[in-house]
Amino acid sequence: MSSQFALTKEQVNHFLAHGHVVLHNCFSREAAEELVCDAYQQLGYDRHNPATWEKPLVFMYPSVQPPLREFAPKVWDAICQLIGSEERCTNPTRSVGQWVINFWRGRDEEWVPPSPQVEGWHVDGNFFRHFLDSSEQGLLVVPLFSDVAERGGGTVLAADSVPIVARFLLEHPEGVRPDEFDFANLVSQCRDFRELTGSVGDVALIHPFLLHSFSQNHSGKPRFITNLCISLKEPMEFNRADPLCFSPVEQAILQGLGVSSLSFHPSAPRERIPTS
Ligand SMILES: [Fe+2]
Repeated sequence: MSSQFALTKEQVNHFLAHGHVVLHNCFSREAAEELVCDAYQQLGYDRHNPATWEKPLVFMYPSVQPPLREFAPKVWDAICQLIGSEERCTNPTRSVGQWVINFWRGRDEEWVPPSPQVEGWHVDGNFFRHFLDSSEQGLLVVPLFSDVAERGGGTVLAADSVPIVARFLLEHPEGVRPDEFDFANLVSQCRDFRELTGSVGDVALIHPFLLHSFSQNHSGKPRFITNLCISLKEPMEFNRADPLCFSPVEQAILQGLGVSSLSFHPSAPRERIPTS
């Protein structure tokens, strides 16, 4: 059983207010280095020769995939706290996830500051019809495997987007296919934009309703993160008998909707969507 106190009250409050929280020193530089070396080897890129970094942005899996629970134990405890408990998670042996390596995306284009003008705003989950209580994307986890400064390719976040997406999904009890979201409209309602900067060993825990996007990497240094999705065994519940049993992820949604509980029932069947 995981500790119930992985996150401080301040950290939970930050998550509730801003849809994400960043934990520091969750794994060592040495542990990160092993995975980064493996990525360069898989790609056939020379880390000291940028001319070999053929693709601006790379998605792939590490050839060795340590379970997150062992790689970064305090992160695992924090995840369990945010989703309510380890028992609510579908796969507690989940690995550190998929690489998203931003070598030089957008380096030759003028810098677009974090704002609605950045392209590609989305919430994760292209494989299911989204409902207010969906279980498929319970939490997004983003470990940093390189130091990321401003303009260094860090994920951009709309830190006030959870209430906006929650309202949108509440207005659509029939569910929303991934291609039916009007992300441009949703992000136009946001005001609090941030770059996910930080150091090796930092891990961001991100609410499933937080709008985010890629950014340009003007730093000349590759940005290494992985991301992974924590799925829930059951849909979220907004009408628990004991309010103390709401997970912080559920609380953030209720808070965003301005209610203390909610009876939500999808009006259409849940749907898995094939991905190519
Ligand atoms: Fe994403």
